[in-house]
Amino acid sequence: MNQLTITEFLLRALWRLKQSWHYLLAIAFTQILLFLYTDLTLKWALIAFGLLVACFALLNNPLEDQRPTTMSKSQSGKKKKGDRLQPFIELIEALPDPILLLDRQNKLIAANHQARTNFEITNTGQDISAIIRTPDLLEAVSRTVSSHESERVLIQTRIPVERQYMVNLVWLANGEVRGPSLLIHFRDLSEQERLNRMRSDFIANASHELRTPLASLLGFIDTLQGPARNDEDARDKFLGVMAKQGKRMTRLIDDLLSLSRVEMNVHQHPSDRLDVTGLITHTIDILKPLAEGQGVSLEWQSPEKPVETIGDRDELSQVFQNLIQNAIKYGREGGYVKISLRDVNDGSTLRPRFAIDIEDNGIGIQSHHIPRLTERFYRVDVEQSREKGGTGLGLAIVKHILTHHRGELKIQSKPGTGSTFTIFLPKA
Ligand SMILES: Nc1ncnc2c1ncn2[C@@H]1O[C@H](COP(=O)(O)OP(=O)(O)OP(=O)(O)O)[C@@H](O)[C@H]1O
Ligand SMILES: [Mg+2]
Repeated sequence: MNQLTITEFLLRALWRLKQSWHYLLAIAFTQILLFLYTDLTLKWALIAFGLLVACFALLNNPLEDQRPTTMSKSQSGKKKKGDRLQPFIELIEALPDPILLLDRQNKLIAANHQARTNFEITNTGQDISAIIRTPDLLEAVSRTVSSHESERVLIQTRIPVERQYMVNLVWLANGEVRGPSLLIHFRDLSEQERLNRMRSDFIANASHELRTPLASLLGFIDTLQGPARNDEDARDKFLGVMAKQGKRMTRLIDDLLSLSRVEMNVHQHPSDRLDVTGLITHTIDILKPLAEGQGVSLEWQSPEKPVETIGDRDELSQVFQNLIQNAIKYGREGGYVKISLRDVNDGSTLRPRFAIDIEDNGIGIQSHHIPRLTERFYRVDVEQSREKGGTGLGLAIVKHILTHHRGELKIQSKPGTGSTFTIFLPKA
């Protein structure tokens, strides 16, 4: 037997004696009486007492393992309970979903980090009903505690924020009254729900946007086949409108394809060096006829030296085209669009960045619209945008492309005064 096991053996013997002190006291008292009033000699009384003490010290006390709750009152008992709980705590802390551990009386024993955050839990020992008041969950807890059968419920919480959870209640079949008996695991469905809603909204919006020009095309075809069959003037006029609607559908499909292409490439970061100043000059040349048509002047303050980023030429060209085109479309007739490039040294990112400001003096945007402009199909004025040939996907594509390039878009605007759209991109 090595040193450690001898010490451990002695400690266990002492601990057993301590646990049995009341039995030993009763035996000692009986022996004193026997010594005083019978023929028992002191020598035999001491030998008998010594043997009994040895028995209590060496033999396992069967009561010892049956009384965990009484033990928890003692110092060593508390330590033992904590030790038993430790693996449970380590396990639930390692899991990303919120998890609670309850005892048989529905009192909280432990909660992992995610549960503490989601349910604002500060201390253990409180009843589950003080943490989550959702009746469906509380009823499921009572059912599991009485039936000892695991179950699953779908719940909605409103406090602190509205969330939907799939909750798994698992009975741990633990013999202790105050030990972990019920594990409650929450799977947050809110994000999945939001994505599903976004997907179905997107399909509904895309179908609606396509259905409008399609219905108009079919209407004109009917008219041309019927009442206007022999009306040459009407035919020319209607064919013109039909061509416009057809172009609108093509634009919409092109934008939808662009969006899906950018979304597909989102994890493949670009690797080509690209001269941004040259690309802006090229985009401005393409958009000059549109600006002239609206009497808008395009002012490009090109930097002396070319500025480079790592990027995809087609994608960044789409960004500049949409933003400059928006500034012209929603600008003032006879107004201006100023484009400039500047360095950004605010230390907000590790890589040095530059910014491109696209400023117009047009209609401007009310502040409550600004956070929603990059949502798909979001337009401040749907009719005005349609009239100008817009699909409402431009800024959604811009945002995706900039994320792909580790860039950013900021929008500042004053209704009636004008807007400035700023693109931030990392330097090559
Ligand atoms: N410079 C601007 N000034 C005022 N409003 C703007 C400006 N740029 C964008 N907007 C508003 O933001 C909305 C969304 O812009 P976005 O580019 O996504 O769509 P669009 O220009 O209408 O259509 P698309 O770009 O697909 O042709 C526009 O409909 C318009 O209401
Ligand atoms: Mg646009």
